[in-house]
Amino acid sequence: MLRDLAIFAVLAISPTISWIANEEFLLEQKTVYELLRYIDQPEVSGDGSYYELGMSYEIEKNIENYNDEECVRSFLARYKKGMQPRGKVFSPFYSELLGEAIDLFRVFLNAKDFETLNKTAAWARIHMNEGMFAYSFSIAVIHHKATRFIRVPALHEIQPHLFFSETVIKRAQEVMWRNDISSSHISPKGYSVIPATYGIRRNAKNYNFDEEEQRLNYFRNDVSLAEAMHYAHLLRPFWLGSLEISDDVLAAWPPRGETFLWWQMHTLALYNMERLSNNLEAIKEFDWNYPLPYGHYPNASYPNGCQFPSRKNRSRIPNHLFPLLQKVRDLESRLSSALDTERVIDTDGESRETYKQAYVELLGNILEGNADSINLPFYGTYYVLAKHILGCAPRPKTKHTPCPSTLDHFALGHRDPMYWSLTQRIVNIYHDFSSHLCTYVYEELVHEDVVIQSVEVDPIFTYFEDVDYLISTGLKVPNGRDEPVVKVRQCRLNHLPYRYNITVKSARVTSVWVRVFLGPKYDFNQMELSISENYKNFLLLNVFTVNLENGTFTIQRNSTQDYTAVPEDMSGDSFYEKVTRSLKDINDTFEMPWYLYALKLRNSIPKGRIDGLPLRLFVYIGSPIDEFIHTHLPLRKSITFPLDRPLTVDPARLPNAYFKDVKIYHKERSKIKHKTRETN
Ligand SMILES: *[C@@H]1O[C@H](CO)[C@@H](O)[C@H](O)[C@H]1NC(C)=O
Ligand SMILES: *[C@@H]1O[C@H](CO)[C@@H](O)[C@H](O)[C@H]1NC(C)=O
Ligand SMILES: *[C@@H]1O[C@H](CO)[C@@H](O)[C@H](O)[C@H]1NC(C)=O
Ligand SMILES: *[C@@H]1O[C@H](CO)[C@@H](O)[C@H](O)[C@H]1NC(C)=O
Ligand SMILES: *[C@@H]1O[C@H](CO)[C@@H](O)[C@H](O)[C@H]1NC(C)=O
Ligand SMILES: *[C@@H]1O[C@H](CO)[C@@H](O)[C@H](O)[C@H]1NC(C)=O
Ligand SMILES: *[C@@H]1O[C@H](CO)[C@@H](O)[C@H](O)[C@H]1NC(C)=O
Repeated sequence: MLRDLAIFAVLAISPTISWIANEEFLLEQKTVYELLRYIDQPEVSGDGSYYELGMSYEIEKNIENYNDEECVRSFLARYKKGMQPRGKVFSPFYSELLGEAIDLFRVFLNAKDFETLNKTAAWARIHMNEGMFAYSFSIAVIHHKATRFIRVPALHEIQPHLFFSETVIKRAQEVMWRNDISSSHISPKGYSVIPATYGIRRNAKNYNFDEEEQRLNYFRNDVSLAEAMHYAHLLRPFWLGSLEISDDVLAAWPPRGETFLWWQMHTLALYNMERLSNNLEAIKEFDWNYPLPYGHYPNASYPNGCQFPSRKNRSRIPNHLFPLLQKVRDLESRLSSALDTERVIDTDGESRETYKQAYVELLGNILEGNADSINLPFYGTYYVLAKHILGCAPRPKTKHTPCPSTLDHFALGHRDPMYWSLTQRIVNIYHDFSSHLCTYVYEELVHEDVVIQSVEVDPIFTYFEDVDYLISTGLKVPNGRDEPVVKVRQCRLNHLPYRYNITVKSARVTSVWVRVFLGPKYDFNQMELSISENYKNFLLLNVFTVNLENGTFTIQRNSTQDYTAVPEDMSGDSFYEKVTRSLKDINDTFEMPWYLYALKLRNSIPKGRIDGLPLRLFVYIGSPIDEFIHTHLPLRKSITFPLDRPLTVDPARLPNAYFKDVKIYHKERSKIKHKTRETN
């Protein structure tokens, strides 16, 4: 039943569930938000009760409240020896720190009930490194059985310094303390607003950074995109075995290895269309032996003053990373030998044949280097290692003082252009793999009874709009009671909802799967792309089932119903207020947004061009017969079927497939209003 619910929620048109506020749930939800506020000031927490709770709680004396006592004892032993101190930077890309975070996570996960979890978290909020606490506790809330459906606050509300420059944070802090409110204004809703730009504007030349790449700042510094990247990790941390992953997460997506690959391909396709929108050339590839093609200057610092490391254009990997460089080369050569010899070696030294559809999962697990990898000691944690090296962070002076690069954070890695060069490499490995699978033959692709007669789509308009991000919950406050609400205002890409109609002629009453993809029409040199290459560049917008009548039928869809993206979250302050209000009035129905964390709709399509970026919509209708076998997901075929393998059949020959040209126009917001009929 729970599983059905999850599938329903993700595939459904309106993915929200509402129920009469359950007091217990609301109190727990409120508690999670309170624990994750002001994490660098443990003594501050509303009425101060968490501090008292945490100070008076002793894990050891309550060990019977944890399922696995041994695991809790080993954490305590490690804690007594000394772990990452408070005030230092945390990143899961340093194995020692990750080990500590995992131990802490296991203590949370083993708490028998919410009460114990509450106490443990209140304790950890005081005694553990704050970044580590936020990381481990957030993952625990997502996967613990006692916290089903409970949301964790957005990352920018917990650690705003990861997203906004030092200057902006300082200004916000001044406003918070009411020392200097000149740089802010009060919004009609009563909160203070600090304006912020993003990225580096001028002086790029002096730093040898590629100025052209700055055109993508709006994309790379997008907060929602960063959070989607972050949650992609929290939902399936690479170090967590799938047995421990929450059932709701497993139910909502394809198996993890496949999801990993799909996410890489999906975001890469989007990124490439953003590059096309900005007249940028194709992503440059890299070789470990040569200088890296892109530099990166994050222009941000950690709360302890340590600057995010930057990397100049054409730098080489620094010497202190050579041992890791050797390792990543070894992993790559093991991987290519697995692909060349068509044999993957498991932990017993047995080799297995590689080129089967089921092995997409296996490949994804190996590339991500996750806990379900067929042979973790041999194939290693490729993705994490490669990102860590490319970040070129300086050697930490002591193990407690790392200065992680943006690539050392799951939320920030994609700001560095090298992230995309690496993604390209991973996606290339997948395509190399899939080119060895049998290509689909006509009979596998055709659906005899269904003919797509036409596809109509509105022109698509994108625009920039101001978005306010709550950050006061992550700033320094005197006591945490009735603090002013401070938000940062940044300009963000968005688009008007657009509709598409798919007119289908069916020869009988049948139910079908419809998939809608978006991809480029021309390449970086304005040459029209042929589908035999271009299939790699499409991203899946939507997948849904529909029941067809005998006869002609128009399927009407609205982009807000897309499968791969979800609406914007409520801002943390409104959400918290709503929870508190519902707690007071038990009759208040609380509409709990229950889609899992995913890409936001605003990030789901590229910016386009003022004169219109020509793209293509690809609609494919398939029969549902073969789709249901995974216990987890209603899709047996790859989620991007039929574009998951090289196409040898020309889709133009298929009555159940259709290409439609579409243009994305980028406009100023004020101009759109006149241009379209129904904007609000
Ligand atoms: C968690 O502990 C705090 C502090 O004692 C308390 O205020 C809160 O109600 C507790 N939460 C739950 C759900 O019991
Ligand atoms: C870094 O950001 C600050 C504030 O956002 C800005 O004033 C400064 O010019 C930036 N540095 C560079 C090199 O662009
Ligand atoms: C940095 O990259 C750009 C674009 O590739 C190039 O034009 C420029 O010469 C490079 N700068 C340095 C210092 O290599
Ligand atoms: C889709 O069909 C509806 C109903 O016929 C119509 O109002 C709408 O304009 C159509 N949309 C497009 C994009 O053609
Ligand atoms: C579908 O409708 C057509 C014409 O209305 C009819 O000839 C045909 O038998 C119907 N097919 C089925 C399977 O009902
Ligand atoms: C699309 O659906 C959303 C929510 O259901 C609605 O608010 C919006 O007006 C619709 N847009 C169009 C163009 O139909
Ligand atoms: C909730 O609803 C019930 C029944 O409708 C009513 O008796 C009760 O007074 C309401 N409670 C509040 C707090 O409004």
